[in-house]
Amino acid sequence: MGLLDGKVAVVTGGGGGIGKAVAERYLAEGARGVVVVDNLAERADAVGRELGDRALGVCADVRSWADNLRVVETAVEAFGALDVYVGNAGIFDHAVHVADLTGPELEAGFDEIMAVNAKGCLLGVRAALEPLLASRGSVILTASWAGFRPAGGGVLYTMSKHAVVGLVRELAYELAPHVRVNGVAPGVAPTTLRGIESIGQGAKPSLMPGTEDALPLKRVPETADYAGIYAMLASPDASLMTGFVVEADSGLAVRGVARVAGGDHLAAGGGA
Ligand SMILES: NC(=O)c1ccc[n+]([C@@H]2O[C@H](COP(=O)([O-])OP(=O)(O)OC[C@H]3O[C@@H](n4cnc5c(N)ncnc54)[C@H](O)[C@@H]3O)[C@@H](O)[C@H]2O)c1
Repeated sequence: MGLLDGKVAVVTGGGGGIGKAVAERYLAEGARGVVVVDNLAERADAVGRELGDRALGVCADVRSWADNLRVVETAVEAFGALDVYVGNAGIFDHAVHVADLTGPELEAGFDEIMAVNAKGCLLGVRAALEPLLASRGSVILTASWAGFRPAGGGVLYTMSKHAVVGLVRELAYELAPHVRVNGVAPGVAPTTLRGIESIGQGAKPSLMPGTEDALPLKRVPETADYAGIYAMLASPDASLMTGFVVEADSGLAVRGVARVAGGDHLAAGGGA
């Protein structure tokens, strides 16, 4: 028996990275259907094919209300219901600082990143509301370490992910007791996040040199390491959780200055 037996899910940004890992895990946990959404058609098609009969790839842009409606209609038509909406599509700002952007670049960059990272989640949940109310379903939004703290991106990304955290809390309040709304805040994952096109950014690996050393848990996670959290949040095991953002940050929030290298001495059986 899987955590998500018989459930139907939509996963945006599922054409790669964390979203694809979540879609795979949902199917492994018994989901009846998973609609994988990406605005790169080749990614949506490839993942839809790769994941088999219970998966469907849909090319859609989360910034568009019409696209969000089409995604939800497709899920309900194909699988008969919608139980879980995962708003995960996102772009990065490659940690560019405010002083390194001109006013016009800030205007354009803000509009683009907020449209994908924040408005995309808002429109997606609104489009999915009717079937989610019918199924007493749940929503999971991908925030970030940058949803709580500085220096997980630049000013634009950090603002957009703080907005996602706010959205989780407000939606959880407004949709209770019918639909649970939670978030996941990943620390780092080895993906190739796209940048902000309107300010000339392309795609770049999200990991920076030295990442492993900076993580108290001293291991760069795989995308699949996050997927179990998304499965748990969508399952009855999380029936008491709403309005919560799970921080899976490899210990980034508990770094300190007292002992830089962490607890290596403990591995040798040492203590005080
Ligand atoms: N990689 C990390 O270190 C990290 C850390 C914290 C949070 N996150 C968040 O995790 C989420 C997934 O990112 P990832 O690291 O797996 O990167 P990724 O680039 O592999 O996945 C994001 C997917 O979203 C798609 N996408 C982008 N814009 C879209 C749009 N307008 N409409 C539909 N799809 C769109 C992309 O094509 C891509 O396939 C993002 O929200 C990101 O901000 C990533």
